[in-house]
Amino acid sequence: MREKIVAGNWKMNNTLEEGVQLAKEVNEILKKNAPKCTVILGTPFIHLADVVRTVDSKLVKVSAENCADKEKGAFTGEVSAAMVKSTGAQYVILGHSERRAYYHETDEILKEKVNLALANGLKVIFCIGEVLEQREAGKQNDVVKAQIENALFHLSADDFAKIVLAYEPVWAIGTGKTATSAQAEEIHAFIRSIVAKKYGQKVADDTTILYGGSCKASNAKELFAQPDVDGGLIGGASLKAADFYGIIEAFN
Ligand code: PGA
Repeated sequence: MREKIVAGNWKMNNTLEEGVQLAKEVNEILKKNAPKCTVILGTPFIHLADVVRTVDSKLVKVSAENCADKEKGAFTGEVSAAMVKSTGAQYVILGHSERRAYYHETDEILKEKVNLALANGLKVIFCIGEVLEQREAGKQNDVVKAQIENALFHLSADDFAKIVLAYEPVWAIGTGKTATSAQAEEIHAFIRSIVAKKYGQKVADDTTILYGGSCKASNAKELFAQPDVDGGLIGGASLKAADFYGIIEAFN
């Protein structure tokens, strides 16, 4: 059975103190209520080391939200995959639509980031998804297929096994507009089929595919009940421990 995951993505929220407090609260809740899925906190770089020290690593894994596309050196302000790894974080979120749109991250750049993350022993939560105009034009399958092919399909099957995919329709992120469970299932099944074509059915069956975009406690259960939806990548609802736990609980 493939891994079920609920991952938070704090984005650019929380001071160091607030972030550590939130991580502590999530950890406390999970100590009392053992999760039936892997729980990951995606935090800004500055929180990583402290959050790693705050949580029980058996209950909560920690992820960065980005890493550099260069190995090391004179790249002022950048944070490398090796640096992320040195904090004790185990994951990095790459290809988020906000990084693609606001920081001009192309498939080529993301391919470099993926390679460096894997070379440094990080697992990757790789985000894909179409914008509203692409969905309205019926192009969502082509868009996600190209995103996956361009940034990931150079990987060996062994390396691809370290990738978690996160389908996040851009029109659903932070908008309160969730994809219906049928819409999510349809494209998740399509994504799994293209992975199967490239790497074979076994690899595809083992690939965790998360849904992201206004996922909350009230819709998580129905979304996660879809056969090809293996959990969620959660933005807004990951900023309060009780809200985030409400989503984790969907797997109970
Ligand atoms: P949201 O964000 O849950 O606030 O819609 C999801 C994401 O961007 O990962």
